[in-house]
Amino acid sequence: MPSDKLQIDAFAMQIGDVADADLEQLHALSISVGWPHRGQDWQFLREVGKGVVATDEIGRIMSSAMWFRHSPELATIGMVITSPRLQTQGTGLWLMEYALKDLGGVNLRLNATRAAQRLYLSIGFKPEKTVYQCQGLVTNAPAVETVPGELRLLTADDLAAAIALDAAAFGVPRAGLMEKLFRHSRGYGLFRDGALVAFALCRRFGRGHVVGPIVACGDEDAIAVASPHIRDHDGTFLRLDTHFEAGDFALFVVRSGLAIFDTVLTMSLGRTLQDFATGGENPPVTYALVSQTLG
Ligand SMILES: CC(C)(COP(=O)(O)OP(=O)(O)OC[C@H]1O[C@@H](n2cnc3c(N)ncnc32)[C@H](O)[C@@H]1OP(=O)(O)O)[C@@H](O)C(=O)NCCC(=O)NCCS
Repeated sequence: MPSDKLQIDAFAMQIGDVADADLEQLHALSISVGWPHRGQDWQFLREVGKGVVATDEIGRIMSSAMWFRHSPELATIGMVITSPRLQTQGTGLWLMEYALKDLGGVNLRLNATRAAQRLYLSIGFKPEKTVYQCQGLVTNAPAVETVPGELRLLTADDLAAAIALDAAAFGVPRAGLMEKLFRHSRGYGLFRDGALVAFALCRRFGRGHVVGPIVACGDEDAIAVASPHIRDHDGTFLRLDTHFEAGDFALFVVRSGLAIFDTVLTMSLGRTLQDFATGGENPPVTYALVSQTLG
């Protein structure tokens, strides 16, 4: 007679460095939870951050967590995944503890899916703002009225100005990341009196391309730098993650064919988004994230 009890998942898990992990297995892990990352997207993240994986006894990757120390004051956490068959057994929390130990008291920001919110709340993260994940085939890139200033493609010579503008919006300079993004992206910048006042980068990611970051001091400028990317991708798959739900920019995104596909929640541990915000009358704002993982 077969026993009426079956014990499963009794194996021990081993912690490893994401830098040494097999790229195909990482890719399979993110596919298992329905995420669009390609192997190259994982590789990009490994080159700008650190992380851990949990493997089973025969070396299969079952879980991951990554973190990105943008400056001594602020890091973002992402790629927190547990294979569906092992979820709710403590693996996610276990890997988060490694991240928190390595990050030792630095202010943290992340974008939490619904499934992960309870995990982050339990370790002290505070909910802040909704992120709208907009994506789709670009259908009708709206004709955009011209704004004052010169709109042109960015070159490597514009990197320092872009780092500074991004820092004013994001809260800290993320020079290493921006430098790498510049090499992987096409960028448009808006200049007034020779100074960069808004920019938008666009790179390959997941199912197509992603626009981000977009940094500007108002909707009109944000639309001006985003619209050439939208036009460049007419008829193809484009994604854009934004905190804006209403207003001209949000309307422009949806009208271009990028519908709200999902939402996640920006959460902070330590200093909040507001604490990092630049004061002043018309400060630069992040209109589109680099990605949910990188903020
Ligand atoms: C979110 C995720 C990483 C959690 O991993 P995990 O290994 O299941 O996490 P843990 O077992 O350590 O669970 C931590 C807490 O989250 C809860 N939790 C886990 N999965 C959940 C789910 N799908 N829905 C709601 N709560 C969930 C657990 O019950 C636990 O809470 P408790 O301690 O109060 O019981 C996993 O569900 C996952 O990979 N989801 C898909 C990808 C994703 O959304 N990643 C998060 C990116 S921000």
